[in-house]
Amino acid sequence: MKANTKMKTRVVKQPAPVAPAKTQDTGEAISMDEVWIEGGRKLRGQVPVSGSKNATLPVLTATLLAPGIYRFTNVPALKDVSTMLELLALFGVKSKRDDGHALYVDSTNAHNAEAPYELVKTMRASIYVLGPLLARFGEARVSLPGGCAWGPRPVDLHIKGMQRLGAEVEIEHGYIVARCKKLTGAYLPFEISSVGATGNLLMAAATAEGETIIDNAACEPEIEALAEFLTSMGIKIDGIGTTRLTITGTPRPHPADAAMIPDRIEAGTFLAAAAITGGDVEVTSVEPRHLDAVVEKLEEAGAEVTVHERSIHVRAPERLNPLRVTTSPFPGFPTDMQAQFMALLSVARGTSTITDTIYADRFTHVAELQRLGADIRVDPSLSGAPVMATDLRASAALILAGLVANSETKVSRIYHLDRGYERIEEKLQGLGAAIRRVRA
Ligand code: EPU
Repeated sequence: MKANTKMKTRVVKQPAPVAPAKTQDTGEAISMDEVWIEGGRKLRGQVPVSGSKNATLPVLTATLLAPGIYRFTNVPALKDVSTMLELLALFGVKSKRDDGHALYVDSTNAHNAEAPYELVKTMRASIYVLGPLLARFGEARVSLPGGCAWGPRPVDLHIKGMQRLGAEVEIEHGYIVARCKKLTGAYLPFEISSVGATGNLLMAAATAEGETIIDNAACEPEIEALAEFLTSMGIKIDGIGTTRLTITGTPRPHPADAAMIPDRIEAGTFLAAAAITGGDVEVTSVEPRHLDAVVEKLEEAGAEVTVHERSIHVRAPERLNPLRVTTSPFPGFPTDMQAQFMALLSVARGTSTITDTIYADRFTHVAELQRLGADIRVDPSLSGAPVMATDLRASAALILAGLVANSETKVSRIYHLDRGYERIEEKLQGLGAAIRRVRA
């Protein structure tokens, strides 16, 4: 990526929809709101981060494991969380939000059902019901999620793991159909580190007879949080936070309460927003140890970063130094911060390089950042990304680029943002950004 001092902005505008906007999937009306940003303001002040989306989603499905009432706090008000609750409602799980970020979940009358394509397609994390359903009911019927905006995202590791625990798994008309008389503990060595497969198999092994060992387990903070939650439900798990998890199944786990961990990707996005504008921002309600790799890169780029117990303060220079960024499993640099750093580095001095080792094709944002004037070259071996940005983190990258663009940027299709960032425009306004949501 070459330096690009004057990032010229053009209006990012998608063609107007010809019919009322609906998801291709559920037919549900989707918001066609836009976010309009007047670039050029340095962000200043404090901003709190919300609870973690990717920790909340598997924790919610874990309520299928033990009938009863759960109370969760610091639950982010996000579309993906509502989608998960909608999915769980199909299994008879009731939920009620209380004072914004507290959530009651009642799985007393949970029953088995199908996780339909229409929902699974809108949110891949729906696959997290597979493990708990199999563990609790001995049977699960979950749609395959299908492709994703930035390429194939297989679920073979989830399936292989369930088979090793004793389930018979077949693919029938696009559905994963898994059955077992009982699940038995097994040795599960993963050839690739997978967050989803680790989470799903943790939950499947929770009620299995005997001991399960997951080797090369994902040790992302969201998996650590799920494992801690399962522990509080009475399931014995050793090695939490490491790449080797040992689960001793228990036939009767019990409900538990939990507070969701802070969203490290939301936090990282605000740190990047501060850095891209040459700002001075303290991101609060964070768990700093979850952000070591991001902080390290910001420092390497020339930002002054002060890490406190629950907050991170960044003071950025006018222009950042170039970086080499390579994503890798935790504690490496997260793939979910790759797009935001691409925006950042497109206005840094000199040439930076970014390599995504988790998703080789996760570059849908490149073409849109180029439309804002960024000088980015994708290695031909990685090309083939669709031209339209259709991803949550890609949308965040466009917002960041808009914060430093020299005229107004309009980012459309922001329903992707609403899946994973709670009130991002209000939070950025609080830091002095000229950003607003324009209702369609
Ligand atoms: N993989 C396989 N087979 C599998 C599962 C994964 O080959 O059965 C591969 C994937 O294709 C990828 C790698 O393993 O190359 C890692 O994928 P992983 O399973 O870890 O990803 P995930 O569980 O589907 C979660 C997050 C993503 C995040 C990735 C990587 C949730 C709900 N999603 O996805 O978050 O990018 O881990 O950290 O936790 C987002 O929030 O925007 C997002 C996409």
